[in-house]
Amino acid sequence: MEKINVVILSDDLDLRIEVKNLLLREQFAISGYSDYGAEAKTKIVNLFPEVVLCAVRGETPDSVFTFVQDLLTTVRNCMVVLVTDKISVDLVNKAAGYGIRKVMPFTGVTPQDFSEELKTVLALEQQRSLDSNEGKKVRCKVLGFFSGKGGTGKTTIAVNTAICLAREGKRVMLLDLDLQCGDVAISLDMDSKYSIVDLVQDRGGITIENINNFSVDHSSGLRVLCAPKSAEFAEYVKASAVEKIIDIMRPFYEYVILDMSAAFNDVTITACESCEEIFMVYNTDILSIKNAKMSYDILDQLHQKDKLQFIINKYEKGIIKPADFTKMFGLEIYYVIPYDGKTAITSVNKGQPAVLSDPRSTLGSSLRHLTEKIITEHTGIKVLTEPEKKKKLKLRNETKKNKDKDNAKKK
Ligand SMILES: Nc1ncnc2c1ncn2[C@@H]1O[C@H](COP(=O)(O)OP(=O)(O)OP(=O)(O)O)[C@@H](O)[C@H]1O
Ligand SMILES: [Mg+2]
Repeated sequence: MEKINVVILSDDLDLRIEVKNLLLREQFAISGYSDYGAEAKTKIVNLFPEVVLCAVRGETPDSVFTFVQDLLTTVRNCMVVLVTDKISVDLVNKAAGYGIRKVMPFTGVTPQDFSEELKTVLALEQQRSLDSNEGKKVRCKVLGFFSGKGGTGKTTIAVNTAICLAREGKRVMLLDLDLQCGDVAISLDMDSKYSIVDLVQDRGGITIENINNFSVDHSSGLRVLCAPKSAEFAEYVKASAVEKIIDIMRPFYEYVILDMSAAFNDVTITACESCEEIFMVYNTDILSIKNAKMSYDILDQLHQKDKLQFIINKYEKGIIKPADFTKMFGLEIYYVIPYDGKTAITSVNKGQPAVLSDPRSTLGSSLRHLTEKIITEHTGIKVLTEPEKKKKLKLRNETKKNKDKDNAKKK
């Protein structure tokens, strides 16, 4: 039987041990411990537990509730349980309001009873997740951004899409597979000590722990595995290693975004084979169209045709229209992004992708809508606009306030 992964949180070291001793070893595996400090959230994100046990001795401070609220915006597929020696009806109600699934005592219970109850709560939670659309475990999608032509906007679109996905609360890894001239780190103004080369050369091998060790967090919540800083290291990364890295990432991310180079080499082909969808990024000049036709034919021969989606970038009204692409390939254009040189240059120079530096600009809003289209097509759930989100939050807060008032009256 597979063990249930648990992380135990408490500022009290003795209490962590006390709670650990309540979990039957043959049923639960402790993936880690932490206090409620600044590092806790990152730690939990990296440990992928099914259950987070928040242990508190005495009154539960508000800081624990706000911690859980913040945690649950990032970590979706995990259940939080409060373990305390001071349980009251008010506490249970308050905990529920913050997304805590159960409040359990750590005193006066046997490990058998505690473990059994925790397993029951988890089983119910997993059933609830399967039933509701929101909590449904979405299978990982590997999305590649490619074109056989340089400078069409692959990196710009890959980076901005990855950020938008992360800001929608998705677990996202951005992998820079332009191994000779990767621009992802510069686009995000990140100075990573490590790159994919360190990962493939590490003695520990390609494991999820090492992927976490050699990748970095971006402030948007996105995780990034950078390309080497110098082109001569590119040859150390073999296609088989790229395939393995992507396969190992799959269970841990909802989206793996690949920014690819313009070269049709082994790494690119393997990466294309690993993708669920390949977004072919082109412009509407004649050289771009010629290259699009050539790349399309090669990917067709490699049996990748069904995954292709065409994006026209830097579009300005001219002789060649997006519809001409459709005539040529018999494919609908998935999305058209207008030319917006001012925003593009400013965002590159600032190291801040357009969706962050200027979300209302033509480029920023167009890239955000592209992500919304991708999410909606994958999940069948419409992405709410900012005003819609605010309205929903207001409604939820009002309902909560009314509930609290009713409870106070009842008392
Ligand atoms: N819609 C747009 N409007 C104006 N400029 C854009 C647009 N999209 C991207 N650019 C600019 O075009 C240039 C090339 O973009 P980018 O680096 O994303 O292309 P690429 O396909 O990844 O290039 P390479 O093949 O070199 O990796 C950058 O200066 C970028 O800011
Ligand atoms: Mg690029």
